[in-house]
Amino acid sequence: MPKIPIIMDCDPGHDDAIALLWALSEPEKLDLKAVTIVAGNQTLANTTRNALRVLTFAGRTDIPVAMGADRPLMRPSIFEQGATEMVHGQSGLDGPAMPEPGFEPVPMRALDLLIKTIEESEEKITLVPTGPLTNVAALFLVRPDLKAKIERISLMGGGSYTGNWTPAAEYNIYVDPEAASIVFQSGVPIVMAGLDVTHQAYITREENEELRQKGGRCAVFTAELIDFFSRYHYEVEKLPGCTIHDACAVAYLCHPEIFTGVDCHVDIELEGSLTAGTTVCDPGNYEGKNHNATVLYGVDRERFAELFIEAMSRLDQ
Ligand code: BDR
Ligand code: CA
Repeated sequence: MPKIPIIMDCDPGHDDAIALLWALSEPEKLDLKAVTIVAGNQTLANTTRNALRVLTFAGRTDIPVAMGADRPLMRPSIFEQGATEMVHGQSGLDGPAMPEPGFEPVPMRALDLLIKTIEESEEKITLVPTGPLTNVAALFLVRPDLKAKIERISLMGGGSYTGNWTPAAEYNIYVDPEAASIVFQSGVPIVMAGLDVTHQAYITREENEELRQKGGRCAVFTAELIDFFSRYHYEVEKLPGCTIHDACAVAYLCHPEIFTGVDCHVDIELEGSLTAGTTVCDPGNYEGKNHNATVLYGVDRERFAELFIEAMSRLDQ
């Protein structure tokens, strides 16, 4: 199988960090060309610093990183110090000890790094957004011609039947619904790993111990990320394990056979006072609209956990 060239657009974040590491652990399947950063789980300064630290930890200071949007396209930022701290801590990536960044972001905006990477690639690029969709929407607004050079978008965001930031909306889509609307209307094929599937993609305490016992530095580091991140999932969300949402967007590309999905038309609610940021998923074409996304609804959880442990251990070899 030829490698899939990808750009990850992210806001690390524990699960973004794990998604990055997972992508690096699959060099035969994925070719990580660039990382673009958006504000989301923390301020842009912190999410950038976190991405640089994770890549430094992984010894991949060769991967270009660029800073992108520090706020949504049209709305004021909903980022409130304190609110997301509950989930990801003060730095956005609390928990394990980490090296200081060993390199700097490239001296260009995320938008320009996206354009450059897509233009320079001989093959179509797959985008993997795991934060608010502001940078990707900006790309489509500024360079709609480049949609033709995007193979597809494998994203974490949304949910058919549930929200996690409001009762109806998932965090990444809620932060910048207008950007999400532009992306979902772009015509580029989308695979949506929303809460329907990511809430099934959890790691139990026992599985996290199994990972830690592997003993390598990446295995222990990831187990410590999960130690911190899982507190929110157990204590606040009352989930049966640590939900590594963003990893699903990467895992889908490497191991699509463990996921099930349904083609849908997905629209983003922009106005509802209770429902802004909801992904309205229509599998039945009730309104005669074309399918624009494959919405993932299921994953073989035990296989996902096995593959995750294998991926993190592989980085230690
Ligand atoms: C999403 O929000 C963030 O907290 C996570 O990194 C993930 O991308 C889950 O709703
Ligand atoms: Ca994220």
